[in-house]
Formats: sequence, C-alpha cells, structure tokens
Amino acid sequence: MSRGVDEWSPGSWRRRPALQQPEYADPRALAEALKELRGDPPLVFSGEIERLKERIAQAGMGKGFILQGGYCAERFADCRAEVIANQLRVLLQMSVILTHGARQPVIRIGRIAGQYAKPRSSPVEEVKGKELPSYRGDSVNAISAEEGARRPDPRRLVQAYERAALTLNYIRAMIDGGFADLHDPYKWNLRAIERSREWPEYRETVEQILDAIHFMESFGGVQPERLGRVEFYISHEGLLLPYEEALTRRDPELRRYYNVGAHMLWIGNRTRGLDGAHVEYFRGIGNPIGVKVDAGCGGEELVALVRRLNPGNEAGRVCVITRLGRGRATDVLPGLVRAVQRAGLLVTWCCDPMHGNTRVVGGRKTRAFGDILAEVRETFLTHVRLGSRLAGVHFELTGEDVTECTGGAVGVTRADLSRNYQSYCDPRLNSAQSLEMAFLLTKLLREHTARGQKGRVGEGVSG
Ligand code: PEP
Ligand code: CO
Repeated sequence: MSRGVDEWSPGSWRRRPALQQPEYADPRALAEALKELRGDPPLVFSGEIERLKERIAQAGMGKGFILQGGYCAERFADCRAEVIANQLRVLLQMSVILTHGARQPVIRIGRIAGQYAKPRSSPVEEVKGKELPSYRGDSVNAISAEEGARRPDPRRLVQAYERAALTLNYIRAMIDGGFADLHDPYKWNLRAIERSREWPEYRETVEQILDAIHFMESFGGVQPERLGRVEFYISHEGLLLPYEEALTRRDPELRRYYNVGAHMLWIGNRTRGLDGAHVEYFRGIGNPIGVKVDAGCGGEELVALVRRLNPGNEAGRVCVITRLGRGRATDVLPGLVRAVQRAGLLVTWCCDPMHGNTRVVGGRKTRAFGDILAEVRETFLTHVRLGSRLAGVHFELTGEDVTECTGGAVGVTRADLSRNYQSYCDPRLNSAQSLEMAFLLTKLLREHTARGQKGRVGEGVSG
C-alpha cells in the first residue's frame, strides 16, 4: 500500500533531508540498537505529556509561569546521585522563589535526562592543534581526543536511553520521597549567595516564603507532605531522529502518537527548516514542542513554521523560545509577536536569554550574568507592551559551583573562568547565580504586578 506524501508516520521524516545526523559506519549495529530501543518501555506516560501541554497552554493564557533549566550538553558522567540532586535542588528552589514572585503556579521542566545530542556548526573541530570529527554529544561519540573516540557509536543510543531512565528514576524517587519539601531553610543551601551585597533583600524573600508556608500549615490547608509533591517534567532537543522515532509510540486510547522519551521536545534553530526531516517528525507527535528562535528568524517564517508544526492550532503544543541577545528583544521581538498575533496562532512565549549572549573569552565560551538578566527584562517588557505574555524562561544552569558564566553576586571574573570550567558545550549559571537570577526575576515580576495594579507599566529591575 502506498502512502500519500503528506501522510505522517513516526518514520515519514526519512523522506526528507535530515540535518545534523551522524554517519554510522555499521548500519547493522545501528539497526540492532534501534530495535532494542523500540522494545524498551516508555520513560514518560502520555497522560503526563497531556498534563504538561495543558499547563503550558494555561501559562500562555497568563495562568502559570514556566521555569526550564538544564545542561547544554548533558554527559553520561552526570548520571550520579549528587549531581542529579544538586540540579533538582536548584531548580526547585528557583521555582519556589518564582512562585512567590509570579503569584502563580510554576511549571518545572528540566532539560535533562536525555539532553545528550548537540547540533554542531562544523563536522570537524580542532583540539590541541589536531583536526578531529566534532563532538556531537555523548549519545553520538566521546569528547576525548583519543583515536576512534569521535567515531559515532550506535551503542551510545542505547546508553543514552538507559542514562535518561536512571536519571529520571532518581528524580521521581526524590520527589516522591519528599526532597521537594523546602520548608526547612537549612535545605536551601544559600551559603554562596550570602556573600552578595543584595543578600538582605534576598533573605527577606526567603523569610517571606517560609512564613507563607508556615502560615498555610498552621491553617491545616496544606499538609507538610503535600509540599514535597511537585510536578516535574523533562525535555531535550529532539535531534537524532532515529532515536526519537524508536521512542515514538501510539497511545491507543488517545489515538495519537507521542514521543515517550521526554515530556517536551525541542526543535533546533538549525534543524527547523520547513521542508526538513525534523519538522516532518515533530508535526506528528502530541508532545509540547519548544521551538528555538534566534534574531535571524522573520515573522512570516515563524508563522509558517508554527502552522506546519501545529496545524490544529492546539494550545500548549508550541512554545516559541526566543534567544535574541541583549539589546535585540526590543527591536526584533515585536515583528515576531505581531505576525503570530495577526495569524491567530496560539503559542506560549518563552525566553532563553543564554544563547544570544555567548562570547568567547580567552578561548572559552562564556556569558555575562548582566546580559542574561537584561535580555529577560527586555523580553518581558516588550511582551507587556505588545499585549502578549512572557510565559516562561529557560536557563542553562547547574547545581554545581562551576565558573562558566561571569558576574552575579558571587562575582565570577574572566580570570576565574579557568578555575572550574566543566561544560562540554555552553557555559552555565552556577547554583548561586541561578538562585540570584530567580530572586531578580521575582523582583521583575512583582514590580510589574505592582505597577500593573496602579495602571502603569514602566521600568523593572535593571541589569
Ligand atoms: C542549545 O539549545 O543548547 C544550543 C546550543 O542551541 P543551538 O545549538 O541550536 O544554538
Ligand atoms: Co546551549
């Protein structure tokens, strides 16, 4: 039976040009790995995916705020108890701080447990004077410069699934076991940020949050054990299409296909071509999709892409994640928002203030805390002006004390970068910088709420 050209199936992307795919030397080994993955159980359940989509739709309508965070390139070596716990802790703390600021539910998404594949601008890179095939993420090859390490190995796809499963299992266990219960201030681990000039103000926010929790508890409205039960979702960039296809399953009750390897999938800036394989794959899955949009994307281009990805205009299905860079949101964002508004498309606007602000200093990629904050602020205020809404943010961050981004209360300088730079890819906010970002975002959200109540919109917090 022949299929129509427009008919979608988990493998219909194979009829289109697929960018950023590794070339495997042994097709039989690849087929073996994919067969194994097709038989593996889902990491997430379709009911959870639908619930996240509903939450994202609500956030788009002003009833929630999305906090997404994780690594640029997650490593297999990060699948360790303390690394996962530290990452979860910082995201949960940020979400509590933001709940206080937004006065709304915060939707927590970790871009973890599967963020193992990276798009690269060149197929080769130079390492210590030697030209090597580019590192494409742990699910493809190894970062080491040793002979053969950069050769794509299909077994790594199976390892990626297994690492993701182990990571997610531990996250679920911690949440189930009460790890998210933050009403004990000692669990906050704020030492690093206590050195900040702004600490008295941040401390006040922490105290207000703890007071509110104790107040609710004393009323009996919130049981202590309920505080530990939070929703947590995972996402990753859906780059390696054979892997994503193998984890795509049909839900017989919902009569729809879902990618069961993550709740939410991102589509890359380089792989979102209208006629490309990635867009073909993404248009058929029921999961929420994060679409990376940089300053080179025009309004019409975005409208055509959103229409293709979400033909039914289903709310919560598409998050447009802008990454325009400091100073550009004010100019570039209005064209995107107005085009989407004119077309009547339902999208949830998010901001990734990391990728438009990357600089290379002394051979290392870095980002300045002030630039990151400034882009969020500009994006937030531009949406206010346009009558749209910034419904969420994404940060590359870690719960570890790394020195990859400069600035913030901990005052990481350019000279500090070499002290503890661990990222295989982009620079991340460390735990103190992440918490500080949450405090400052809270301030922005609250200032705006206060101004809105007085019928005025003006400046927020400065970068
Ligand atoms: C990312 O999202 O972490 C990233 C590096 O994006 P891109 O490669 O698409 O610029
Ligand atoms: Co990145």
